Amino acid sequence: MHPMLNIAVRAARAAGSVIARSFENVDKVEVEAKGTNDFVTNIDLKAEEIIIETLRKSYPDHSIVSEECGDLPGKDSDYQWIIDPIDGTTNFVKGIPHFAVSIALKVKGKLDQAVIYDPIRGDLFTASRGKGAQMNNVRIRVKAHKELAGTIIATGFPYKFKHHTDAYLGMFTNIFKKSADIRRAGSAALDLAYVASGRVDGFFEIGLKPWDTAAGELLVIEAGGLVTDFVGGHNHSQSGNIVAGSPRLLKELLTEMRPHLTPSLKK
Ligand code: IPD
Ligand code: CA
Ligand code: CA
Repeated sequence: MHPMLNIAVRAARAAGSVIARSFENVDKVEVEAKGTNDFVTNIDLKAEEIIIETLRKSYPDHSIVSEECGDLPGKDSDYQWIIDPIDGTTNFVKGIPHFAVSIALKVKGKLDQAVIYDPIRGDLFTASRGKGAQMNNVRIRVKAHKELAGTIIATGFPYKFKHHTDAYLGMFTNIFKKSADIRRAGSAALDLAYVASGRVDGFFEIGLKPWDTAAGELLVIEAGGLVTDFVGGHNHSQSGNIVAGSPRLLKELLTEMRPHLTPSLKK
């Protein structure tokens, strides 16, 4: 394993064990609203601290961007860690056992290492640039569907952007009619890890943040899939409008989404 991936796995497991322990007594978790329908808990903050401490111990000069504490520039801006301490906080606070730690490393602006760790199931998804993707150290591949018929597509609802409801439901309707079924499980990081491992066949969501998608994007790519914005371009890390799947299936998804794209979703 690449040494930097090894450290990221150590950080994800350390944070994961605190998250899993707190989940046993989730009523004691302190929840705070940080925006409309957007929550942070003392455990998000604790997990974030553990991850940053672990990374900083080995790589004190690297830069970090993390959901709850924002930008932490380092002396070395060529190396940037992108962290989501708990992806799926709403599930976590509701006692729904589906959330993950997500850690990615960009080197000179390119995704290089990725870890997504589900501390409840113990599923560890890892990827290194050019070296493939694994779940629990076993190679994973995106399912090579050519059409939507028979596929399961993961998605997230635009609950922080309700002005996109009509456009989103238009895309949803088209995709739902052609696919077998749709899942909204509540963790974009796991949605992408599940695309990479073939548990689901594709994924789309509006307005995600870099920490939601960075690790998942590398996993999907290293598992033989594609990740784009809603017009098949590469602006998704800016816009957060993201589609993932096998190259053929992604084309089908874009075709179904196209009639419902408003100008702001074409980015
Ligand atoms: C959220 C989850 C969710 C997605 C949201 C994300 P958080 O992340 O990934 O599935 O629909 O848009 O913000 O807030 O739990 O880290
Ligand atoms: Ca997130
Ligand atoms: Ca989070």
